[in-house]
Amino acid sequence: MDEHTPLPGASVLWAGRLVEKPEAPAFEFQSSIMVDKRLALQDIQGSRAHVLMLGNQGILSGDHVAALDAELARIALELEAGTLPIDPGAEDVHSFIEGLLTQRLGDTGRMVHAGRSRNDQVATDLRLYLKEEIPKICGVLKETILSLLDQAETHVETLMPGYTHLQRAQPVTLGYHLTAWCTGLERDLGRFTDALERLDECPLGAGALAGSGLPLDREATARALRFSAPTLNAMDSVADRDFALELAGAAAITMTHLSRFCEDLVLWASEEFKFISLADAWSTGSSIMPQKKNPDFAELIRGKAGRTTGNLVCLLTMMKGIPYAYNKDLQEDKEALFDSLDTVRWCLGIFRGMMCTAVFNQERMAGALVGGFLEATDAAEYLVQKGLPFRTAHETAALIVRDCLAQGQGSISERTLEELKERSPLFEEDIFKALTPAACVAARKGLGGPAPEAVRRQIGTLRAKVSP
Ligand code: ARG
Repeated sequence: MDEHTPLPGASVLWAGRLVEKPEAPAFEFQSSIMVDKRLALQDIQGSRAHVLMLGNQGILSGDHVAALDAELARIALELEAGTLPIDPGAEDVHSFIEGLLTQRLGDTGRMVHAGRSRNDQVATDLRLYLKEEIPKICGVLKETILSLLDQAETHVETLMPGYTHLQRAQPVTLGYHLTAWCTGLERDLGRFTDALERLDECPLGAGALAGSGLPLDREATARALRFSAPTLNAMDSVADRDFALELAGAAAITMTHLSRFCEDLVLWASEEFKFISLADAWSTGSSIMPQKKNPDFAELIRGKAGRTTGNLVCLLTMMKGIPYAYNKDLQEDKEALFDSLDTVRWCLGIFRGMMCTAVFNQERMAGALVGGFLEATDAAEYLVQKGLPFRTAHETAALIVRDCLAQGQGSISERTLEELKERSPLFEEDIFKALTPAACVAARKGLGGPAPEAVRRQIGTLRAKVSP
């Protein structure tokens, strides 16, 4: 932009004190309208509550209140109808709305800011916005959990390998694996609802940092805006943004979960695993390799997790050096937080759509249970149940695995009972039944285990927590 272009048309709220105004590029640098314009309706809501309170407290006359309230309502309607464009030259959304009131109502418009500051205004607007936005994120989270739980229930008996170190470890089921994902997502839901409860206090009336000498009724504005209470300390109200940190944290953790689930999916969709077939509509092709079907959606969710981590680090770093109370650094809170919340909501919806249409290849999953000695732990536990110390049982099973490998055998069940007895006389004929993948899974029926009835209990618990 040309350095000498004149100041943008919108008048600033602080014009009285300063002889010179920032030139256009500098003004643009400190303006936040392009980011905080999404708070316009909340700003109007806050102003209407403030104006009514000023009227009830005898600070504004009934006529002034009526005029301001009607104009604020009109501005909201115009914004919603799209007939009132946001002025990109305004300093921020608060200046924009107050500027409009003054343009349209003259001196009456100039009365609206009594007893408040943009510092308590922005803190109020942001909390009002989050009180609408977070339940939407929680809604998508719940839908995602519930549809994954439906898939988990369908697959409580679908055997597959469980992995540690990406090496085949023990037989589990697909239902168990999906329920593990849901258990993490349910805690994410808890983090969002918990943060929402804590931020449900109204900063309006905190002023710039120290409240106001005017006889404000902060209880009334808090009630009118449906907050559970006014904030306790005015300075804290305008200086802190810990609610933004909590939510950015909740978003980053949720995205980290989604990223890991997507990593599972990318592996499962590979020719090497072939555990899952993503719908064509949830895959993309290659511009050069005609055969390709790529899990781009899963990859992109995994990639976007980086943004939410970045936003959290950005907010923490932005906050850490700010002396109390408000400093302009805090204006940076919104871009990072909005991006994190937009990202997590979008990704949850995409993840859910992709998962709902995915087809699991049960034969490939069952096939992957052959050959990795996933039953070795169960062989050891068989011996423990016959009285052998676990460490001895572990060594015995390991020696049997070695015997198998030496003879090119892929599973302990390929040994004869006599061969097994050479390693431990405790083995009996029933060992072979105990080592099938289904038996290994069925045996782990304790709390939290992969046995079908145990997983059904977990699914029931999660459904009860998530369902309205
Ligand atoms: N646009 C500002 C923000 O987002 C509003 C508060 C400005 N306050 C001030 N004293 N400059 O933080």
